[in-house]
Amino acid sequence: MPGTVLICLILFISTTNAANAGFSFTLIHRDSPLSPFHNPNLTHHDLNQAKFDRSIARAHALSVALTPQLSPEQGEYLVRFVVGDIPFTVHAILDTGSSFIWFQCQPCQKCYPQKDPIYDPSKSYTSKSFDCTNSTCNFTPGHSCSANNECAYHLAYLDGSFSDGVLMQEEFVFEGPDSATVKGVKLAFGCGRNNVFKGFSTDGGNLAGVMGMGRGQLSLASQLAQPAFAYCLLGEADKSTMSRVQLGSRPRMWGNSTAIVRARGRESQYSVLLNGVSLGAMRVINIPTGQVVSLDSGASMTFLELSLFGPVIEAVRGAMKGFEVARDPRGLSELCYSATTKELVQAGLPVLELGFVGGSRLEVKAESLFLEVAERRVCITLIRSSFGQSIIGNIAQQNNVVGYDLANDRIYMSGAYDCKLY
Ligand SMILES: *[C@@H]1O[C@H](CO)[C@@H](O)[C@H](O)[C@H]1NC(C)=O
Ligand SMILES: *[C@@H]1O[C@H](CO)[C@@H](O)[C@H](O)[C@H]1NC(C)=O
Ligand SMILES: *[C@@H]1O[C@H](CO)[C@@H](O)[C@H](O)[C@H]1NC(C)=O
Repeated sequence: MPGTVLICLILFISTTNAANAGFSFTLIHRDSPLSPFHNPNLTHHDLNQAKFDRSIARAHALSVALTPQLSPEQGEYLVRFVVGDIPFTVHAILDTGSSFIWFQCQPCQKCYPQKDPIYDPSKSYTSKSFDCTNSTCNFTPGHSCSANNECAYHLAYLDGSFSDGVLMQEEFVFEGPDSATVKGVKLAFGCGRNNVFKGFSTDGGNLAGVMGMGRGQLSLASQLAQPAFAYCLLGEADKSTMSRVQLGSRPRMWGNSTAIVRARGRESQYSVLLNGVSLGAMRVINIPTGQVVSLDSGASMTFLELSLFGPVIEAVRGAMKGFEVARDPRGLSELCYSATTKELVQAGLPVLELGFVGGSRLEVKAESLFLEVAERRVCITLIRSSFGQSIIGNIAQQNNVVGYDLANDRIYMSGAYDCKLY
């Protein structure tokens, strides 16, 4: 057994302070037994219904503004890290749709109930504040000078959620695969002292905040000056296993790539050009010039503009002829069937393929296209967008490697892949 200890020690040392070289970290599925938010009293039907609730509540908020700052949902893929020299554990949403890192922080003027103890920078020797003449302050959302010259921020989301606080710097520790840890990652983040997060659960099982992975200067990848990151999100069936994110100069990513485009009002998001949709061998939509869609890990469902939603739903309906149409018990999803996910998989429902300019493809299999929301009731995870934008959420991205080549402004997609192998 001393041998084991030695090996662990070597691994530990070899991964310490690896931030500059890039590193891997794990994602926990919100509903898995690994998550502190896991509620064993809820059935998987309850949990799946909650995903629709969260996504649709967020979309309603989006429909009222032209350049919305999306508020991430309180799910599905969480990153766990430790901050400070008296370690506080924080669970946050991994969100490619936004670019700021923030979490609730003492002294709280108003904090919502959260599961983890609230981080207190006064207990940590490694915490530092920024004064408002510091250049980093200029990149902070809604920045201003507080009475004592600190860099204050105000981050407002469209649904009325917001976080107010001050910009701080801390040392973060990330959990890597195989229990490795990555220490000493210095990051600027928002210490949120006055926070409202709409749409959180009423049982107190709330997340502390958000880990922004977007294109802005203060996202995780931007602060660490990493040229790329990639992830492979495990599906519902494998949610007790952690998914992986690789950050660095050479994350594992492959397939064709598509250019990241700048869409007005969505500059910090990962927007790409969709040029077609197929269902199995059938071409459903062809858009030679491409149509802007955003990849958003902070959303569960996929929202399609009307010109995409109609034809895709019709095609799926055609492929599902053998199944009995049913209603969503709460009327949130527009297409449901009396079936189990297992039956859909066994029936060999064709794969929905989203194709992008440049030849990259996202392949959505039956087990991600439909979720079981009640006994023998599956509902489609595509939602009609009421806000004139299309957003590809995390469920549609499951079991595809999605790679972000930030240095060259391109996104790589592997097509269908078993993320347990990633
Ligand atoms: C689950 O139900 C039991 C019994 O009703 C209750 O004591 C417990 O607090 C519940 N757990 C959660 C996480 O809600
Ligand atoms: C900005 O503030 C951070 C954190 O306190 C500090 O490490 C950095 O040196 C400051 N930069 C400047 C230009 O003052
Ligand atoms: C890459 O694009 C080419 C041309 O569109 C296509 O034939 C090929 O199947 C694509 N490969 C992948 C892995 O998507």
